[in-house]
Amino acid sequence: MSDPIVLAEGLHKRFGATRALRGLDLAVPAGTVCGVLGPNGAGKTTAVRVLATLTGPDAGRARVAGFDVVRDADRVRARIGLAGQHAAVDGRLTGRENLRMFGRLHHLTRRAARARADELLERFGLAAAADRLAGGYSGGMRRRLDLVASLILRPDVLFLDEPTTGLDPRGRTGIWDAVRALAADGTTVLLTTQYLEEADRLADQIAVVDHGRVIATGSPDALKARIGDHLDVVVADPAQAAATAAALATLPGARPAVEAGPGRFSVPVAAGAVRLAEAVRALDRAGVDAADVALRRPTLDEVFLSLTGRPAENTAPDAAPAAAR
Ligand SMILES: Nc1ncnc2c1ncn2[C@@H]1O[C@H](COP(=O)(O)OP(=O)(O)OP(=O)(O)O)[C@@H](O)[C@H]1O
Ligand SMILES: [Mg+2]
Repeated sequence: MSDPIVLAEGLHKRFGATRALRGLDLAVPAGTVCGVLGPNGAGKTTAVRVLATLTGPDAGRARVAGFDVVRDADRVRARIGLAGQHAAVDGRLTGRENLRMFGRLHHLTRRAARARADELLERFGLAAAADRLAGGYSGGMRRRLDLVASLILRPDVLFLDEPTTGLDPRGRTGIWDAVRALAADGTTVLLTTQYLEEADRLADQIAVVDHGRVIATGSPDALKARIGDHLDVVVADPAQAAATAAALATLPGARPAVEAGPGRFSVPVAAGAVRLAEAVRALDRAGVDAADVALRRPTLDEVFLSLTGRPAENTAPDAAPAAAR
């Protein structure tokens, strides 16, 4: 594997009493997409801000595109792009004008800025809307325009902080397509997200962040295999709870069923080990009348529960009870 183009070692960052980063380590190979997955307050934005040289770490170090983010911040800045949770697009300008303006702000000649704007609008599916005021764009298009603006200087590394939070499925798909196109061009992308599905679809490697630290890393498949699937069962008669739990316990790799409500069960099972038909048969044999049986991927909450033994509650790093760590 090539040297990591993003390398963070033991990053610490404190805001008053809040320890936003507590020894964060991260290594992203060049040309890959890294998904930094974590709940509210995990430290994702802080990590991105340190890597993008917007704020300095209190301890630890980081290199991006071969340069130290503190000592060589200017060199790092010249090689990265950043698009945040809140789009920095000017609604009073058209999409094309926005991109030209970004180009000029980044010291491109007028001509180069025009050419680059046209190229990016075409490449990222914004050409048809290019001459409309950005203020009239949908949330998804605005975010896409913001992302595209961060590509004006052809960055080696693009940081995207929750690029799809708050978008509808269509807007989200538009961003995903853009990230895939970038990855295909060889741009390294580091994106933060609260959605397992998003990390799953886009990332080569996922880093799960909690309380300012990376608590698990791996390919989506490796992480899923660790966490497993979930089998959700709804039984018609809640009195059959015990029989249901017993039947589900016979499935390969099954952990004890969690009763999610009267007659509703959720069972963690080894990824790919259980087929739906098997589950239905096991329930049938036990004489359980199942109203619904579904096999699904874990939610982020379940990933957290599995990795940390506690739910992914939205708390500040220091607000969680010590006993829960
Ligand atoms: N400038 C700041 N001043 C004070 N506290 C801050 C500041 N920036 C972040 N924090 C705190 O640091 C912790 C980590 O915040 P951060 O924004 O990095 O989390 P996040 O993972 O990006 O969360 P979200 O998913 O909500 O965006 C939080 O407790 C947050 O309140
Ligand atoms: Mg954030």
